[in-house]
Amino acid sequence: MLRRLHHEQPESFAFTPANQAWAEAQITKYPAGRQASAIIPLLWRAQEQEGWLTRPAIEYVADMLGLAHIRALEVATFYFMFQLAPVGSVAHVQICGTTSCMICGAEDLVAVCKEKIAQKAHTLSGDGKFSWEEVECLGSCANAPMAQIGKDYYEDLTPEILADLLDRMAAGEVPAPGPQNGRYASEPKGELTSLTEHAENRAPQNASVALATGIGDTLKRIDGTEVPLRTPWIAEGASE
Ligand code: FES
Repeated sequence: MLRRLHHEQPESFAFTPANQAWAEAQITKYPAGRQASAIIPLLWRAQEQEGWLTRPAIEYVADMLGLAHIRALEVATFYFMFQLAPVGSVAHVQICGTTSCMICGAEDLVAVCKEKIAQKAHTLSGDGKFSWEEVECLGSCANAPMAQIGKDYYEDLTPEILADLLDRMAAGEVPAPGPQNGRYASEPKGELTSLTEHAENRAPQNASVALATGIGDTLKRIDGTEVPLRTPWIAEGASE
């Protein structure tokens, strides 16, 4: 697929103060002369802040790293994880369409997206709240079919459950991510057949879901205040 910058672009971009501090701290993780290697995390944070990667954001990151703009544009347009068009204000829905998910009903999930969001992928819904796309395996095959919505995975989906999730998100709710059929994690649908000693007294949610609900950033645009900046080697004031 040809990946182009969107035809409509904002005038400018700037990181929030906390994201700016985070971005500057990431650059210090690389050896002298290798700061350009921070380009992926910085572009990713710009996308987390805005929802998608605008041309001003790509150029801003290039300037931070002392790179020619074309170098940052090459990276942003190469990796499919970077969204080059506006995404829904509430969430961008990524339906896994690879083998396990396809066998387990991914096409029915895509049909829900077409009906509730937009007929074509990478198109905003009528109210601007959602967008969607089909993606390759997201590594959660044991809990197929699944979707990444915002930062987290919603697994063991059915068309009805996905439609309900979208309705709840549109109403301002952030449903707990993870398996949606009562399954605890990546494990058999019935009784556990191994590691059964770990089933007793376990926390109500698996660690991933607990972290997501604890931070509360599943659908949030990241402004850098969500978690402390962990770069203790940086002089006082920039670290936690
Ligand atoms: S095939 Fe869907 S997560 Fe792997």
